[in-house]
Amino acid sequence: MITTYNAAPDIDVITSSVPIPGFGLVPVNAFVLHGSEPVLVDTGAVVERDEFMTALRSVIDPGELRWIWLTHPDFDHIGALPQLLVENTELNVITTFLGVGIMGLWNPLPMDRVRLVNPGQKIAVGDRTLTAVKPPAFDNPSTTGFHDDRSRALFSSDCFGALLAAVPENAADLSDDELRQGQIFWATVDSPWLHKVDRGALARELDGFRKIEPSLVLSSHLPAAAGSMMDRLTASLESVPGAPPFVGPDQAALEQMLAQMTVGGTQ
Ligand SMILES: [Fe+2]
Ligand SMILES: [Fe+2]
Repeated sequence: MITTYNAAPDIDVITSSVPIPGFGLVPVNAFVLHGSEPVLVDTGAVVERDEFMTALRSVIDPGELRWIWLTHPDFDHIGALPQLLVENTELNVITTFLGVGIMGLWNPLPMDRVRLVNPGQKIAVGDRTLTAVKPPAFDNPSTTGFHDDRSRALFSSDCFGALLAAVPENAADLSDDELRQGQIFWATVDSPWLHKVDRGALARELDGFRKIEPSLVLSSHLPAAAGSMMDRLTASLESVPGAPPFVGPDQAALEQMLAQMTVGGTQ
């Protein structure tokens, strides 16, 4: 089920909790930045695209949107993108050269409606200026987050995601332990290369992100978090290289799970 909530006076969150059997729930978030040129940040999961459109319509008329910021073209971020571009011809997509290339393998973006913005570059969208950033953790090489000068919110894409037992609307409602363990587990699944990085280099990357000093941290896979939580969010990631690497269930484990489900179903 997709629901919405308000993370700031001018920012709505459109969220779905996706169950990962045996592991918990992962929130999948998209965001609407209201303003003179409204921005939709990512477009929900492909499997939920119809429900996503219904939820989107509850917070804004999609015809009013002027921009989609596509953080990266993974299946949990591109659900309603093709439909939105067909229905609203005034909508343009902010992405990267690589994002355009990857989309070209599925649903090519119209080249006259893309704006290529690399990390470090800025783009004016009406009454806001958005500055692109490369998050310290990511699962797709085209990933680009941004911070907004008006709300001072940081949109971190998959970085800072967490696997959770239940998904509140505010990350502050998670216990320290659930947030930390959920974040670490997510990072070992989503960015397994973190086990191979130089810890000093990772610490410098995280420090650079902290220096943005956002008012709000909006991850694609975490409830909205106040900027005051930035130290906790980055400290969790700093410890990922020393955490156990994720290994998914193998065929024997899958067959055991299916057998248990079958037994459970006949009782
Ligand atoms: Fe991703
Ligand atoms: Fe994602």
